[in-house]
Amino acid sequence: MTATPAGTPLLEIEGLRVHFPIRRGWLGARGVIRAVDGVSLTMTRGETLGLVGESGCGKSTLGNAVLRIVEPTGGEIRLEGVDLARLDREALRAARRRVQMVFQDPFASLDPRMRVGDSIGEPLLVHGLAQGDALRERVADLLVRVGLAATHADRYPHEFSGGQRQRLVIARALALSPALVVCDEPVSALDVSVRGQILNLLLTLQRELGTTFLFISHDLSVVRHVSDRIAVMYLGRIVELAKRDALFDAPRHPYTQALISAIPLPDPRAQRARRRMVLTGEIPSPANPPSGCAFHTRCPFAVERCRREAPVLTPRGSGALVACHLAE
Ligand SMILES: Nc1ncnc2c1ncn2[C@@H]1O[C@H](COP(=O)(O)OP(=O)(O)OP(=O)(O)O)[C@@H](O)[C@H]1O
Ligand code: SF4
Ligand SMILES: [Mg+2]
Repeated sequence: MTATPAGTPLLEIEGLRVHFPIRRGWLGARGVIRAVDGVSLTMTRGETLGLVGESGCGKSTLGNAVLRIVEPTGGEIRLEGVDLARLDREALRAARRRVQMVFQDPFASLDPRMRVGDSIGEPLLVHGLAQGDALRERVADLLVRVGLAATHADRYPHEFSGGQRQRLVIARALALSPALVVCDEPVSALDVSVRGQILNLLLTLQRELGTTFLFISHDLSVVRHVSDRIAVMYLGRIVELAKRDALFDAPRHPYTQALISAIPLPDPRAQRARRRMVLTGEIPSPANPPSGCAFHTRCPFAVERCRREAPVLTPRGSGALVACHLAE
């Protein structure tokens, strides 16, 4: 796979659907969970795209589909112009090298019986890209890149703190110089005090190595810290996608407005003066999503049309994409 020049799309997702089959009710009627239900988005090389939304809206499923950890039900995922669904096993193996994943739990991501240097170097060894002194040098390099020391290579995972372990996981993800790193809640399991350090590390890596990140989190303030653009998901669909500052300064979709108004402000006076938009009702089941706009059961602005007609994600000025009839 050849590298594409800067500015061209690195990842193009079109009409992606991931439906999980389920049995429902005592008759065992068949149904599906529409975890991802028609997502299209494009990522450019070197950007960080934040993906937010409440628990169960399909963020991880979307990230997993990009890595083909789950099989898409429909749609296309093109990485550097190549449709991942059409690749044979050998080509997929090569393409997988281009995409790496960082999960929430650094404890589960590292083999406790392996020296961390061996863990970090393993992908290079497996793909036959380095061995011996060259491998040791590359591992030392990676350790320093993520803010650790070359001498740490000989230690075991239990000798590191949670934050340091996530640094090790990031080092291993970077070993193959991937084009895209999917980070799924990378700081959610960490102490609040070290979250900022890991987020700053990702920013540094983006700047120094040009790494492209798909950054998944349910926490908008975390996503705000690292993202160039932010996509907001609700029940398997993107409802708004905008540049970071535009999204926070002037959110267009009622769901985005509700999420942002739920973030506590540091200044208590500003907090009291602010008009909060409180979401009522539970998130509907993705096995049985509401008709029309899936958000209409919780939207304070819903009108009759919202029940009948699903809004399409459409450009609404200043580069923002919004799926809401009211944004017209
Ligand atoms: N393998 C699976 N089989 C059946 N249903 C699944 C499977 N994986 C996910 N789901 C369902 O798909 C929906 C989306 O799940 P997903 O994990 O993608 O959400 P999420 O946005 O990552 O949530 P969270 O913030 O809690 O991590 C949920 O209803 C979930 O229960
Ligand atoms: S389309 Fe209607 S229900 Fe959906 S977000 Fe807009 S106003 Fe609310
Ligand atoms: Mg998840």
